[in-house]
Amino acid sequence: MRSDPLGYLSTELDVLKQQGLYRTLRVLEGEQKAKTTFDHRQVVNLSSNNYLGLTTHPLLRERALEATRRLGVGSGSVRSIAGTMDIHMELERRLAVFKNTEAVVVFQSGFAANAGTVAAVLSKDDVVISDELNHASIIDGCRLSRAAIKVFPHKDAAAARRIVAELPAAQRKLLITDGVFSMDGDLGALPALCDIAEEFGCIMMVDDAHASGVFGRNGRGTIDHFSMHGRVDIQVGTLSKAIGALGGYVAGSRALVEFLYHRARPFLFSTSHPPAVAAACIAALDVLEQDPQIIDRLWENTRFFKSGLQTLGFNTGLSESPITPVIVGDGALAMKLSDRLFQEGVFAQGIAFPTVARDKARVRTIVTATHTRDELQFALDVFAKVGRELSIL
Ligand SMILES: Cc1ncc(COP(=O)(O)O)c(C=O)c1O
Repeated sequence: MRSDPLGYLSTELDVLKQQGLYRTLRVLEGEQKAKTTFDHRQVVNLSSNNYLGLTTHPLLRERALEATRRLGVGSGSVRSIAGTMDIHMELERRLAVFKNTEAVVVFQSGFAANAGTVAAVLSKDDVVISDELNHASIIDGCRLSRAAIKVFPHKDAAAARRIVAELPAAQRKLLITDGVFSMDGDLGALPALCDIAEEFGCIMMVDDAHASGVFGRNGRGTIDHFSMHGRVDIQVGTLSKAIGALGGYVAGSRALVEFLYHRARPFLFSTSHPPAVAAACIAALDVLEQDPQIIDRLWENTRFFKSGLQTLGFNTGLSESPITPVIVGDGALAMKLSDRLFQEGVFAQGIAFPTVARDKARVRTIVTATHTRDELQFALDVFAKVGRELSIL
């Protein structure tokens, strides 16, 4: 009889179970909305990146359906062969205007945009200087590039400067940060890092996945928020979070975009978006341009909920965005908190090592523009009850 060469995977899963870190996937039975049903339970949903409620917006839905009727369900090829449809080009043109850059290239996801871009623009003789909490897709891109990787402590621009200053002047350097950090909700040290990039001639790159649709005028992101236009060479955004659909993009110079058309491996080797996705993203840009009040509602809800958690006495870290962590430290406690919240009607995902440091486990909350005050107050009341029950408060 053949032995199971993957037997060690079950052993590792057993270890996760013993540590209380084993997760089952919550299954959404319906639409991705502020109040919805997961695993047969109606809950206030604080776990989605659907910041503006666009996943179910009537305009996006209608345009996606119209594109499907007119153009079919798939693109049939990678972009560089037969899979560039005029709707993909229209989306790239619209995003370039929105981001105020020469050009934009759209990828299948934000992950593909980050990993594909870093790996394409760097090679083994180069060096990346990267914030320690940068997203996994950046880390993977750095590894794929085979460039040397130098990590600076979170948001510590002085440390980043020391690293850059010691590198040979002629070596190609990429300085990279998240615009909004996905687990802590704080902002990257953008202005200080741009100064360093200019002083030492580094390529400056920002991953604005959680800032797209959230920060800046009409949701243009942190570069707009900090008035840094023209100072960031490579801006990554996602279409999968506030924009409500799926995808990622890189905004920058025409030369950067054309280079990525030729060298970014996800662009070259993975099929492009179905027309419905591109149509929904274009519709989302229309919504951001015509109804920016939707972003005001997101921020009103953010202030209400964040201050509510803080008044109760939870440790919400350094969050400056709609992502508010409730940091409890121990991984098993975070999972227990998440489970109890869920039983009481609130879905806030527990996050533990390796996604965050071992002693920084948390549940992560994200409010959206579409939560009602009653829903957020209900969630705060449940947090208070369960927090006391588990001696977190
Ligand atoms: C900071 C950051 N960058 C990139 C991504 C990847 O975006 P996408 O979900 O579009 O692949 C994420 C999503 O988890 C993220 O949080």
